[in-house]
Amino acid sequence: TYVVTEPCIRCRYTDCVEVCPVDCFHGGPNFLVIDPVECIDCAVCVPECPVDAIYPDDEVPADQQEYIALNERLAQQWPVIKDREDPPPDAEEWENVRGKRHRLEE
Ligand code: SF4
Ligand code: F3S
Repeated sequence: TYVVTEPCIRCRYTDCVEVCPVDCFHGGPNFLVIDPVECIDCAVCVPECPVDAIYPDDEVPADQQEYIALNERLAQQWPVIKDREDPPPDAEEWENVRGKRHRLEE
């Protein structure tokens, strides 16, 4: 499966959802996740993300490992998102911020 990681938090550009052939993205207030059961590992979403937040599960950076379980859990909690939505108005300001895990709203 593919996994959405920290750079997505408060950026939430949603370019990724438009290309997913199986609609396996689920959207929360300021972050998206991928349902690991539905993802078919096609990889087309990876280059769509302006902040490079999406990785295959075996290439998730060492300091982002918790996002594997987080995608699995939140995919069951949040609704499917198929269409692009406007990003938060201050999305650009969060692009290069690291250590924003605590900003994730469930
Ligand atoms: Fe969807 Fe393919 Fe990305 Fe998986 S890898 S989330 S199937 S676009
Ligand atoms: Fe997030 Fe990138 Fe998609 S910022 S919403 S993973 S395009």
